[in-house]
This record gives sequence, C-alpha cells and structure tokens, in this order.
Amino acid sequence: MHLIKRGRILRKSAAVRQMVSETTLQPSDFIAPLFIIEGEKVQEEIISMPGYFRRSLDLTIDEVKHLHSIGIPSVLLFIKCPDHLKNKKGSEAINPDGLMQRAVKEIKNAVPEMCVMTDVALDPYNSDGHDGLVENGEILNDETVEVLSAMSLSHAKAGADFVAPSDMMDGRIAAIRKAFEENNFNRTGILSYSAKYASCFYGPFRDALDSAPGFGDKKTYQMDYANRIEAVKETLMDIEEGADIVMVKPALSYLDIIREVKNQVSVPVAAYQVSGEYSMIKAAAERGWLNEDKAILETTTSIKRAGADLIASYFAKDIVGLIS
Ligand code: PBG
Repeated sequence: MHLIKRGRILRKSAAVRQMVSETTLQPSDFIAPLFIIEGEKVQEEIISMPGYFRRSLDLTIDEVKHLHSIGIPSVLLFIKCPDHLKNKKGSEAINPDGLMQRAVKEIKNAVPEMCVMTDVALDPYNSDGHDGLVENGEILNDETVEVLSAMSLSHAKAGADFVAPSDMMDGRIAAIRKAFEENNFNRTGILSYSAKYASCFYGPFRDALDSAPGFGDKKTYQMDYANRIEAVKETLMDIEEGADIVMVKPALSYLDIIREVKNQVSVPVAAYQVSGEYSMIKAAAERGWLNEDKAILETTTSIKRAGADLIASYFAKDIVGLIS
C-alpha cells in the first residue's frame, strides 16, 4: 500500500494522543449536586444511588470544604423537605428560615469562595409532588411563577450566587430577573434549566428527595424527548428573559441537543448528568459489567465534547481523582 494519509499516525502513542486530544476535563468544569436533610451528623446513602448521600447541614459543610479543596468551584443544592412541612402551596419553599435558606447562609459563611447554586422548583415542597401548584389536576403556570420568583428572591437574600429554576414554567426567568432587579439583587445569577426533558432518568433523584409526582407525569411542562428544535426555542427564550447560563438535562441521551444549543447561543452551556445516568453506571459496575472509572471518564468527556462548558454530575468528586 502507498497511502497518502494515515490516520493512525496521530494515535500511535500516548504522547501523540495527548498532543492532539481535543477535549480535556478540569475540576472547574464541574458542579456538584448535594442533597441536604434536617438533623445533625446524619448521612444516609440513597438506595438507588449507591455511594451518594443525603447529609445534614453540618456534614454537608464538611463536604463543601472538601469539594473546594479539590478544586470544584460550585455546588447545586437540593433539600429534602420533611413531610409535615409539605402542603398544596409549597409554602415552605419561601420560608426565610427554611432548610435551603439556612443551608445557603451556612455554606457561604463556611466557604465563601464556593459558588452556591440552588434548585428552584416546588416538587420537594409540594404535597402534589409537582414542580408547580396544582388545581383540579392542572399544573398552574402563572401562579407558580409568582411563588418561584419569591422563592428565588429568598435564596438570593440568603446569599445564593445563582438560582437554578428547574421547573420549565413559562416566563419564570423574566419574573425572577425582575424580582432580583426590583430588590437590588443585581449580582445574583440565573442558571436556567432551559431544555429539560420529561425523562425516566430522574427516577433515583425522586427517591433521594421523596419528590415523585403524586399523580400523572411532568409532560405538560418538561419537554418531549422526541424534540430537538423546541429545545433551541426554549433556550433562546430563556436567554431573552435574562438567563446567564442555560442547561440541557439529562445529558447522555441528549448530546445532540447540547451541541445544537451550543452552536446557537453565546452564553455558557451546562449539561446535567442526572441521577439515572449515575445509577446506570454504578449498577453495571457493581455487577462487573462495566469499568466504572472508564465509564465516568468517557461519559463526561463526551458531554463536554458535545459542547457543555459546565457539567453537573454526581461523579464530580470522582472525576477530580481520575484526572489528577
Ligand atoms: C426538580 C428537579 C429534578 C431534577 C433536578 N431538579 C427532578 C424532576 O424534575 O423530576 C432531577 C435531577 C436528577 O435526576 O439527577 N424539579
């Protein structure tokens, strides 16, 4: 053979492969999600997420200190609302002394350098288990947006660096931005879950927070996984309304969406490697069917290659170990 081009030359040794590698992971690419519960010195493993925990605030603070020390710049907080505080209105969501608000204050006090982001949606607080208020089986939009902007404002007051609305209601980014502007919170950012799909891969997360919908599904607000163009429309709307960072969720089944969005916007794009993506890798690794470390690196690298500037992942801590 007398070939003119030989692609294997650029793959011939580890040195050459490193030289031409197009995608590199860094600790600063990652956002670490954290599940917080009431109590002291409590750490509970989530059954469907082996190796991942719900922790009381004191232990969460230790974890945040550790994450900071290994170079993870950001955490995304979720709280498990005690059952007796759940109601139709999700009113605990806006309690200034609620677990989320206390968590933000104490974490920012303990590790001021950490970028603290908060989940904004009503599902953990709402007795209906939906991201919005429910009336006669309908998920209300405009009434929900009012609560979400009050909730966002309470997180901003507690010291959150970013709020992360994950509810997919119409007009919530504009409402949150307006609430921030009117109350002089002009340094609080909005990371919008702009293209969030109605996905089966959230299953383990709903176990973690006991937040599964009480009836029906989330298809009237989260997107149909058959759709691509709609993701771009939703994302551009959120940017128009004032989103600072946009997000695609889940990640691995939506790499085409991440790329599509990345090609069309000029704000940072995040992707969320969700609970089910974590659990699939863990389960296969437990059975010896996949090499866990390699699966973590391959999936997260492919998410970044697809166009994600930031990756929210339950593997954030593991990755730092794997790439250093
Ligand atoms: C709440 C919310 C969910 C997730 C993040 N925020 C669950 C849902 O929409 O049902 C899922 C995260 C994960 O699965 O890791 N709105």
